[in-house]
Amino acid sequence: MNISEAIKKRRTIRKFKQTPLSTKQLSKYIDAARLAPSAANLQPLRYVIVESPDMVAKMFELVKWAGYLAPDYNPKEGERPTAYIAVCSDTSNSSKWVDVDLGAAIENLILEAMADGVGTCWIASVNRPEAAKLLALPEHINLQCVIALGYPAEEPKEVSITEDIKYYVDEAGTLCVPKCSLDEVLIKTV
Ligand SMILES: Cc1cc2nc3c(=O)[nH]c(=O)nc-3n(C[C@H](O)[C@H](O)[C@H](O)COP(=O)(O)O)c2cc1C
Repeated sequence: MNISEAIKKRRTIRKFKQTPLSTKQLSKYIDAARLAPSAANLQPLRYVIVESPDMVAKMFELVKWAGYLAPDYNPKEGERPTAYIAVCSDTSNSSKWVDVDLGAAIENLILEAMADGVGTCWIASVNRPEAAKLLALPEHINLQCVIALGYPAEEPKEVSITEDIKYYVDEAGTLCVPKCSLDEVLIKTV
């Protein structure tokens, strides 16, 4: 799959096969994240791999899924992610651009995972204090968000916007994600 195909095919995945991911794979996705652009090249982002079944189960309790469809679209037993990567920032080496760095790094991570056929869900709705406690993060490390990972057990699709931007499940049970068209996002060419 080339980069263009990966960008078009990428969808957030919230139902996963239970085949585990290796530590080597998860490290590779972090390696892709660390190469992303960073304001002033400060590189404030840090990562924690969550892969032991016990920790993965505990993390599941601290995250929220698919706000527009909750709780119906929550991953059920047997569909849950097999790993998480917690994305953190080092407050001793951060800038006002940390959120922008975060976006660039996470997109790299997601696309690298896709190259292995691995699906991801970027999760900002995480109980940060409890997750930081679970991961025993030191004081100067801020938990920003978590990425849920696993082999996809669903194939959500992009659709054009008819009513609004809320994703929905169609009659076939497929998650449909409305996206703005090129005409809607391109203001003008000058
Ligand atoms: C910053 C950010 C935070 C998100 N937080 C959550 C979340 O907490 N839970 C969740 O299920 N999805 C979350 N998502 C996934 C979005 O719902 C998803 O990207 C959006 O519906 C578009 O779908 P797509 O990724 O398939 O294009 C988040 C995405 C981003 C970029």
